[in-house]
Amino acid sequence: VTYPLQTARLEITPLEGRDTETFVRYRQDDDIARWQGWDPNYGISDAAELLAAQPSTDLPERGGWLQLAIRDRHSATLLGDAAIHCLDELADTYEIGITLASASQHQGIASEAVKLILDHLFSAGNAHRVTANCDARNIAAARLLVRAGMRKESRQVEVEFFKGEWITLDGYAILKSEHLSEGSKKCP
Ligand SMILES: CC(C)(COP(=O)(O)OP(=O)(O)OC[C@H]1O[C@@H](n2cnc3c(N)ncnc32)[C@H](O)[C@@H]1OP(=O)(O)O)[C@@H](O)C(=O)NCCC(=O)NCCS
Repeated sequence: VTYPLQTARLEITPLEGRDTETFVRYRQDDDIARWQGWDPNYGISDAAELLAAQPSTDLPERGGWLQLAIRDRHSATLLGDAAIHCLDELADTYEIGITLASASQHQGIASEAVKLILDHLFSAGNAHRVTANCDARNIAAARLLVRAGMRKESRQVEVEFFKGEWITLDGYAILKSEHLSEGSKKCP
C-alpha cells in the first residue's frame, strides 16, 4: 500500500468524496482559478465528475491522471491538491500540478508536498523524469518548482490561447538522478 504519503505535518492520499466541499470552495477562488484550467464557477457536480474518473491504482496509467489530496496530518483538513499525469507519448515520464487553498499558502506546504510526490514518483512510480508547466507570470509557482529542485528548461512564447489571451508557458523538469543527488545533499 503506497498511501498515505506523510511528513510530520502533511498527509497525501488520493482525493476522496469527503474532500469535495473544501476542494470546490478553493477552486472558486479567482486568484487560484486564474492560473488553472477551471473557472471560478467550478461546482460540486464538476468535483463529482472528477472523482468518478479517478483510477483505483496508486498511479495513473499512461495517458491518465490521478488527483491527490494534501491534508493536515493531524486535523485531516484538506489544504490543497496535486494532479499527477502519466504522459502517453513518453515512457516513465510524469507531469505534476499543485494547488493550495489561499489560507495554506506561504508556509512551505506546497514545497513539502511536491518533494514528497517526487520521492513517490521516482520510487513507487519508477519515473525517469517529472515535468511541470506554468504561466510565465506565475511567480509563486516558478519559485516553488525551483525550490523543489526542478530545472527551468523551456519558454514557449504566447503558445496557448487561455482565458481570453495568449499566454507564455515555462517548462520545468527533474530527472530521477537529479532528485536522488539533491536528496543525498540534504540528508547526508
Ligand atoms: C503555486 C502554489 C502552490 C505555491 O504555494 P506557496 O505557498 O507559495 O509555496 P510553498 O508552500 O513552497 O511556500 C513558499 C513560501 O512559504 C514561505 N515559508 C514559510 N514557512 C516555510 C517553511 N517552513 N518551509 C518553506 N517555506 C516556508 C517561504 O518563504 C515562501 O514564501 P514566499 O511565498 O513569500 O516566497 C500556490 O501559489 C497556488 O496554489 N497557486 C494557485 C495554483 C497554481 O498556480 N498552481 C501552479 C500550477 S504548477
